[in-house]
Amino acid sequence: MGNPPFFFTFRCFVFLLGSLLSLATDTITPATLIGDGEKLVSSSQIFELGFFSPGKSKYKYLGIWYKQVPDTVVWVANRNSPIVDSNAVLTIGNNGNLVLLNQTDGIIWSSNLSREVKNPVAQLLDTGNLVLRENFSSNTSEGSYLWQSFDCPSDTLLIGMKMGWDLKTGRERYLTSWRTADDPSPGNFTFRLEIRVLPHLCIYNGSVKLSCTGPWNGLAFGADPTNTSYLFRPIVEQKEDEIIYRYESYSSRILMMLKINPSGDVQRLIWHEMSTGWQVFFTAPNNFCQLYGYCGANSVCSVDDTANCECLKGFKLKLQNNQTWPRECVRSHSSDCITRERFIKFDDIKLPYSVDVSLNESMNLKECEAECLKNCTCRAYANSKVTGGDSGCLMWFGDLIDVRKITGYNNGQPIYIRVTDSEPGNKKLLWIIVVLVLPVVLLPSFYIFRRRRRKHKEKENMEANWDLLAFDINMSITTRTNELCEADGEGNDKSKDSWLPLFSLASVSAATENFSTQCKLGEGGFGPVYKGRLLNGQEVAVKRLSNQSGQGLTEFKNEMMLIAKLQHRHLVRLFGCCIEQGENILIYEYMPNKSLDVFLFDPKKKRLLGWQARVRIIEGIAQGLLYLHQYSRLRIIHRDLKASNILLDSDMNPKISDFGMARIFGGDELQGNTKRIVGTYGYMSPEYALEGLYSIKSDVFSFGVLMLETLSSKRNTGVYNSDSSNLLGYAWGLWKDDRAHELMDPVIKQDEVSLPMLIRYINVALLCVQENAADRPIMSDVISMIENEHLNLPSPKEPAFTNSKNMNNSSHSNSGTSQFYSVNDLTVSLIYPR
Ligand SMILES: *[C@@H]1O[C@H](CO)[C@@H](O)[C@H](O)[C@H]1NC(C)=O
Ligand SMILES: *[C@@H]1O[C@H](CO)[C@@H](O)[C@H](O)[C@H]1NC(C)=O
Ligand SMILES: *[C@@H]1O[C@H](CO)[C@@H](O)[C@H](O)[C@H]1NC(C)=O
Ligand SMILES: *[C@@H]1O[C@H](CO)[C@@H](O)[C@H](O)[C@H]1NC(C)=O
Ligand SMILES: *[C@@H]1O[C@H](CO)[C@@H](O)[C@H](O)[C@H]1NC(C)=O
Ligand SMILES: *[C@@H]1O[C@H](CO)[C@@H](O)[C@H](O)[C@H]1NC(C)=O
Ligand SMILES: *[C@@H]1O[C@H](CO)[C@@H](O)[C@H](O)[C@H]1NC(C)=O
Ligand SMILES: *[C@@H]1O[C@H](CO)[C@@H](O)[C@H](O)[C@H]1NC(C)=O
Ligand SMILES: *[C@@H]1O[C@H](CO)[C@@H](O)[C@H](O)[C@H]1NC(C)=O
Ligand SMILES: *[C@@H]1O[C@H](CO)[C@@H](O)[C@H](O)[C@H]1NC(C)=O
Repeated sequence: MGNPPFFFTFRCFVFLLGSLLSLATDTITPATLIGDGEKLVSSSQIFELGFFSPGKSKYKYLGIWYKQVPDTVVWVANRNSPIVDSNAVLTIGNNGNLVLLNQTDGIIWSSNLSREVKNPVAQLLDTGNLVLRENFSSNTSEGSYLWQSFDCPSDTLLIGMKMGWDLKTGRERYLTSWRTADDPSPGNFTFRLEIRVLPHLCIYNGSVKLSCTGPWNGLAFGADPTNTSYLFRPIVEQKEDEIIYRYESYSSRILMMLKINPSGDVQRLIWHEMSTGWQVFFTAPNNFCQLYGYCGANSVCSVDDTANCECLKGFKLKLQNNQTWPRECVRSHSSDCITRERFIKFDDIKLPYSVDVSLNESMNLKECEAECLKNCTCRAYANSKVTGGDSGCLMWFGDLIDVRKITGYNNGQPIYIRVTDSEPGNKKLLWIIVVLVLPVVLLPSFYIFRRRRRKHKEKENMEANWDLLAFDINMSITTRTNELCEADGEGNDKSKDSWLPLFSLASVSAATENFSTQCKLGEGGFGPVYKGRLLNGQEVAVKRLSNQSGQGLTEFKNEMMLIAKLQHRHLVRLFGCCIEQGENILIYEYMPNKSLDVFLFDPKKKRLLGWQARVRIIEGIAQGLLYLHQYSRLRIIHRDLKASNILLDSDMNPKISDFGMARIFGGDELQGNTKRIVGTYGYMSPEYALEGLYSIKSDVFSFGVLMLETLSSKRNTGVYNSDSSNLLGYAWGLWKDDRAHELMDPVIKQDEVSLPMLIRYINVALLCVQENAADRPIMSDVISMIENEHLNLPSPKEPAFTNSKNMNNSSHSNSGTSQFYSVNDLTVSLIYPR
């Protein structure tokens, strides 16, 4: 570094100059520098570059972060060389390199260009890219950068960044986690694009694969848990000189990033215009099945309530020793190519990791089958592309690794697996494996997993209590009621644990003045609800299961198990339960403003709900529902969302209540079927009302109805089979005539309402109540859509049940109709705590 005295004087000089310039500039030249406390700001004020100390670290680093979210550092220059004092500066050195210098001009970090640059200038772009280029040309196209930070990713992939391989230089760009939240030096985890004939995305722990997506299928990575319809599009480009992964946002107003965090989780994070924090769009791995090869070779992993391993058809466990882990499945018959063999199709599969595969893009499925059949070692085949009609042929030779069963909208594909024609049914064995082996082998490891998860989650700034949902819950829905409550005196809150505090009957009785009628708030489907006051002064609502209600007991247990494990600002809290002398009682937080329907459908009270209040209520319900559906590892489908189940606290914040009908689903599972349809007339989606199919999309439907009701103060009467159209039909009619704004409750003053926002809300609500469940958005999309003015919303199709037409169409199926009408009788409409 040659000439310290000179450089030092020079620095003093440019320091003055620099501090003037750096107020608003986005560029550095050899004549300027950035010192501690100074920043470069990109021209549209999106990103900043400067010095920072992460968390409790005593070191300084040079980094780039969102101006709006200074805590979110997306790139770090000197990851391996922390700065110990406040005297470091960033400038352009004599050879044209970007350099980070210490007090005595020693190089801490450098862009390390090999060639000389004549007239260099560095600029922080609005994409978050710090680029170094020659100034003399006006050529600022990407190819003309001499160096760019996007080529040296830290732990974050921003829009415009590429991950993958430069085939000319053989260089790979990938993400490396920070060591800890306070230490940006490279951690053990990396996230990279792996080319195995086709590209996969994989997370590594050191050199060990932790989790991989399926191969790129032209549209998405198999089993990538994202539905990209509204927010962003994943892109894989395979060119002569590079194979890369990147993604594009459909809206430039949404900040988003893909990040690998210090614990090895890859998360996609979204920041909407109105957000106050990053929303986690997804986290991977988030269940055992997503761990690479978790079930061993030739097995399929499916997340039900737990991770289940089963040998693929045609394979059996190699060792019958139940304790061996990892397990391994081998062919049940040696393939000699003499016995007749065929292929069995399995749907919704995350295709195997490509250990030994071959690809022929011009073959169709028939040719693929014929080709695979010819070769004894070919174990399975599938289409390689799903775009433009399925096409291409992928064939797997040897063991099939990391096969997952996928349910729902997560990009599963069919695969064809080779079996001997005479394959005997080995169902019995399978049963034994599932029933006996799994509890022994899986549970200990699951608890380890869970503990690990829990550690991570605690660090995360998420208000939702994730691990409450973790595992105990699904062990058995039939857990005896009193096993759930823990003898714990006066309900001392053991909030760390998911077991509920047990209240004595005496204390509950005292709190409700011996269940006096004065304390009674109302009568629910399962029995009366009382207002009570505990000895510590806390007001509570007490739900007492009446003795006659035989059926209610199941729902009671269900509710207790579920809600005990849920904690979210927009879900009602359960404090404890009381099971004594044949009494079954639940004790909740007390909600002074009762429920939403009390306000909405009362001509006087609805005036108390202004525009802002209604917006807040809709957003709150959406957040609560999103938590149930997506932020918990096990999905919860509420199944009875309606205005009377939305309780309001003293500030009119909404809380979802009544989990009597709710169902837990595995993380990937999306749809269930029931013979007994419960729910409420007017809020039920057609597929649920008519066929008993319920899914998160049936809750979305109910949410859409709830939105329309909240905006219009009109009940969706659910008069489906008469000529008079219901609220959905009314809203649809207005929408078609471009008069949607007339739906708004007239008690709300025109000037109070933002018209574009109102239209957007109605648009979203109509998307939610579309006939076809697949057309309805999921809750994270709903939230994106209601929070973002700048998203182009899809046009809704005609809602379900707008008139008698739909009903008549489906009444061809007799059972459907009768089931539907029986709904009316079964409707369990809890009025708690009215
Ligand atoms: C600056 O860096 C040089 C070379 O890395 C080193 O020898 C010197 O001790 C450092 N000076 C300070 C004050 O850290
Ligand atoms: C700088 O580049 C040279 C070759 O271009 C390489 O040998 C050297 O290790 C690099 N130094 C750093 C700090 O990256
Ligand atoms: C680039 O060069 C032009 C003259 O060639 C000069 O006017 C301009 O200030 C330079 N820009 C920077 C950022 O140095
Ligand atoms: C800009 O640079 C790129 C790559 O070096 C080159 O292909 C392109 O022709 C240049 N454009 C202009 C206008 O100089
Ligand atoms: C990284 O891996 C090493 C062993 O390879 C281990 O000792 C260390 O604790 C790991 N660090 C983190 C942050 O997990
Ligand atoms: C990563 O590997 C290290 C050992 O190399 C191990 O201690 C650690 O538990 C692993 N972490 C995860 C998340 O698998
Ligand atoms: C393994 O499971 C089989 C039943 O499949 C049982 O008969 C056997 O005792 C078990 N062995 C061990 C070591 O647990
Ligand atoms: C792909 O399949 C086509 C049609 O079967 C065949 O003509 C072609 O040779 C195959 N290509 C390769 C590389 O095997
Ligand atoms: C079967 O496929 C494997 C793997 O591609 C290959 O090595 C082998 O030669 C093939 N065998 C025959 C008979 O085609
Ligand atoms: C997203 O989900 C919709 C249905 O909700 C589906 O039609 C679409 O194909 C999905 N998109 C992708 C990329 O999977």
